[in-house]
Amino acid sequence: MKFFVDTADVNEIRELAATGLLDGVTTNPSLIKKSGRDFKEVIKEICSVTSGPVSAEVVATDYAGMVKQGEDLAGLAKNVTIKVPLTIDGLKACNYFRAQNILVNVTLCFSAAQALLAAKAGASFISPFVGRLDDIGTSGMQLIADIMTIYRQYPTFTTEVLVASVRHPMHIVEAAKLGAHVATAPASVLKSLVNHPLTDKGLDQFLKDWAATGQSI
Ligand code: G3P
Repeated sequence: MKFFVDTADVNEIRELAATGLLDGVTTNPSLIKKSGRDFKEVIKEICSVTSGPVSAEVVATDYAGMVKQGEDLAGLAKNVTIKVPLTIDGLKACNYFRAQNILVNVTLCFSAAQALLAAKAGASFISPFVGRLDDIGTSGMQLIADIMTIYRQYPTFTTEVLVASVRHPMHIVEAAKLGAHVATAPASVLKSLVNHPLTDKGLDQFLKDWAATGQSI
């Protein structure tokens, strides 16, 4: 499973990239707002930190506008992935970018039917939002299971399932059990994957016992 970090904070991205465990980055207009930075500048900087796909989202809602903005964004760096919303115009733009060999992430997916359309439109990534579905009392993970089942029926589909709106480590574990290709999560969630109290306790004991031997390596 690939790990993307869902942030526009370059310091967070640098820290995670240094672990060697980071495969890409996703941003959205809300994360750009949170960063307080110029959109294109921050995308360029992120692309210099990671060679993996970096999702940059268009804000036009019509096909021509999405194509114009997407081409502009794609010119910033070779690893920019154009993020388009799951609308008819977004799917048309997805088709267009795919034909230009530009990576596309179709975002705001909340149903298996939408994911089927994105695959048919040639999306590189489909982003189902699991947390937001959980928030309204439905099962985000059931959507991932449904999409994986559908995509497996059609070996010609090349779309990767990018599990988004991840809120906690179990979202990632459950998605991995279903074979989802990518999880994008806030840096705090990715960092928390390593934590286990028994690891801390065990390491503490090993270090105490080692110190008691009086040896050094
Ligand atoms: O980037 C899309 C997605 O990950 C947003 O997550 O937490 O705002 O629902 P969230």
